[in-house]
Amino acid sequence: MLRDGSRVLIRALTPADAAKLLRFYSSLSTETSYLRFLNYRPSSSWVLEGLANVNFEDNVALGAFTEEEELIGDARFSLDRKTGRAEIGIVVADEWQGRGLGLNMIQTLGYIALMMGVKTLYATVSPVNYLVAAALKSAGFRRVRTEILEERIFEADL
Ligand SMILES: CC(C)(COP(=O)(O)OP(=O)(O)OC[C@H]1O[C@@H](n2cnc3c(N)ncnc32)[C@H](O)[C@@H]1OP(=O)(O)O)[C@@H](O)C(=O)NCCC(=O)NCCS
Repeated sequence: MLRDGSRVLIRALTPADAAKLLRFYSSLSTETSYLRFLNYRPSSSWVLEGLANVNFEDNVALGAFTEEEELIGDARFSLDRKTGRAEIGIVVADEWQGRGLGLNMIQTLGYIALMMGVKTLYATVSPVNYLVAAALKSAGFRRVRTEILEERIFEADL
């Protein structure tokens, strides 16, 4: 249940969610899409290939669904088995942001990562992305120093 009382189901994304995932990504505002992908523009093939690679061994993807089964959030990570590090990507539909869903999905990903033996979770974010910085800090991530001005890295050791 979110802060405003609305009920949302968080579950693994499956190939059956392909159409919903394509609709979700094409519905994002330019600003939200930029904050998620920085200068990269996600294509339909990126969305579908990403979905096909979800295996809960090194690629994990969760979707958040309304009671009407509309997809309103996508949180995922891919694990580098050599280093034990996994990078998080997360996006919540514009009209659902700020209700606690992002934090909830990050925490859920964290539990799954812990069970899978991930050593460190990290996220690469824009310096202007205050919402994700707040959500990551609430979930126990800390900012690490980088040389690159255009991005910030937040990490959590599990
Ligand atoms: C970043 C994102 C996933 C966070 O999800 P969300 O559902 O909006 O976040 P939450 O509602 O869980 O809130 C996270 C924090 O931001 C705070 N917050 C929410 N709305 C806010 C607002 N309008 N102003 C200031 N802070 C706000 C919350 O209080 C919370 O902080 P807290 O845990 O200290 O209370 C979402 O905003 C999003 O999709 N952004 C665009 C894509 C993106 O930036 N992805 C991250 C890069 S991978």
